[in-house]
Amino acid sequence: MAKLWGGRFQKSTDKRVDDFNSSIRFDKRLYRQDIIGSTAHAKMLGRQGIIPQADAELIVDGLAQILQDIEDGRVEFLIDAEDIHMNIEKLLTDRIGEAGKRLHTGRSRNDQVALDIRMYLKDEICEIREMLLHLLGVLVSLAKDHIGTIMPGYTHLQKAQPISFAHHLMAYFEMFRRDLSRLDDCYKRTDVMPLGSGALAGTTYPLDRDFVADELGFSQITRNSLDGVSDRDFVIELASCLSMIMMHLSRFSEELILWSSHEFSFVEMDDAYSTGSSIMPQKKNPDVAELIRGKTGRVYGHLMGLLTTMKGLPLAYNKDMQEDKEPIFDAVDTVKLCLPVFCDMIATMTVKTGNMLKGAKGGFTNATDAADYLVKKGMPFREAHAVIGKLVFYAISKDKSLDELSLDEYKEFSDIIEEDIYDAISMKTCVDDRSVKGGPATSAVSAAIAEAEKFLKNSEKQ
Ligand code: ARG
Repeated sequence: MAKLWGGRFQKSTDKRVDDFNSSIRFDKRLYRQDIIGSTAHAKMLGRQGIIPQADAELIVDGLAQILQDIEDGRVEFLIDAEDIHMNIEKLLTDRIGEAGKRLHTGRSRNDQVALDIRMYLKDEICEIREMLLHLLGVLVSLAKDHIGTIMPGYTHLQKAQPISFAHHLMAYFEMFRRDLSRLDDCYKRTDVMPLGSGALAGTTYPLDRDFVADELGFSQITRNSLDGVSDRDFVIELASCLSMIMMHLSRFSEELILWSSHEFSFVEMDDAYSTGSSIMPQKKNPDVAELIRGKTGRVYGHLMGLLTTMKGLPLAYNKDMQEDKEPIFDAVDTVKLCLPVFCDMIATMTVKTGNMLKGAKGGFTNATDAADYLVKKGMPFREAHAVIGKLVFYAISKDKSLDELSLDEYKEFSDIIEEDIYDAISMKTCVDDRSVKGGPATSAVSAAIAEAEKFLKNSEKQ
C-alpha cells in the first residue's frame, strides 16, 4: 500500500518495520476523538477560506459516515496505514477523493495525536470521576450504618485505641475525596487544545484555534507550539492520580483481606465476591480484594514507564511518544475495572460487629483512657502513663483486661482511683469522649458524615 508520506521514498518499508512502527493495534480506540477533532478542523478550514467550503462539507459528511461505519463494525483498520490518524484519512480519501486530501492542511499528526489523547483522557477522567463519586456515596452510607459499631484502631498493626467502624470508613472517604480533587486538577491541565502547533513550529495558514477549541469543548489553547506537541505531562499526571487511587484501594483491600481471616473475623465477603479452592473444601478466599491489591502494581509500573519514556526526549515530538498510549490506556482500564467491583464488594460484605467490639476490648485499647482518668483527677500525664503501664503489666500477668480488675487491685497502684474508673474505660466512653473535631465520637463522626453528604450533593451538581 502506498504511504500517505511516500513521496520522498524510493523503496517501500520493510514488512517487519511496518508492523513495528504501526500503532493501529492500540490507538484505534482513539477513532472517535480523531474523527471529531478532524471534523472541527475541517469546519474551521472552510470558515477561514483555507479550503473551499464545499470540500469542508464533503469532509464533514464523509467523516460522519466513517464514524457510523466504525461503530457498526464495518471498518477494518490496516496495519500498513500505520496509525488511527492515517487510517481514517485514507478511508476518507478513498471515499470522497480530492476533498479528503485537503483535510490535513495546516495540521500535523503531532498536534493531531496530542489533541486526540487529550480528548480521550478528558472523557475518561469524567467517567472515573463518576465512579469515585459512587464509591464516596457507598462509603458514607456504610458509615451511617456503623456509627455505633466499635472496633479496635491500630498502629503498627497492634491494637491502639477503640474507634468506630464509621470513623475508619470515613478515613477512606477523605482519601478518595482527595483523589477526586486531584483528578479535577488534572482535568484542567488536560483541557487545553493543541491543534495549530503543527509539527512543531505552528503553521503559515490563518487557523482559528479558538474556534476549534470552542467546537471541541476545550477551555484553553496551548500557548507554545513546541510544548503543544511535546507535552505529555497530563498523561503522566493522570497516571499518578490513578496510581494514588489504586494505592488507596489497595490499602483498603489489604485490610479487608486481613479482616476476612479467621484470626480477625471482622468481615465476611459475600459469596458473590469470593472464590473457593480447588483442593481445600472449606476455603472462601477474598480474591477480588487481592486482585485489586495486585493490579495496583501494574498501574504504578505504567507511571514509572511513562516517566522513563519521556525523561530523555529532546523537543519536540519523538516517536518514543507513541509509547504513551498502551500504559495510560491500561492504567485507565484497570482503575475502571477495579472501582465498581470494589464498591459492590464493600456494599455487600457482612460486618461482624460483635467480633469488632470483642477485638476492641482486648489488647488494652483503653489504657490511654485509664491514664487520662488519672490526669483528670490531677495527676501529671507522664506519671499517669507510668502508673497505667505498671497496671497493664500486672493485668497481663493475671490474664485479665483492665475492666476485669477489682477496685482493690486498682488502689494498689493509685489511691485516687475510684469506682468511676469502670465507666471511664468502657469502650463506649473511650470512643464517645473523643469528640474533638475529626475524632471518632458519635457526635464528631455524625458531623463528618453530614459534611460528606453535603459535599456529595454539591459534587453531583457540577
Ligand atoms: N502514531 C503516532 C503517535 O502515536 C502519531 C504521531 C506520529 N507523528 C510522526 N511524526 N511520526 O505518536
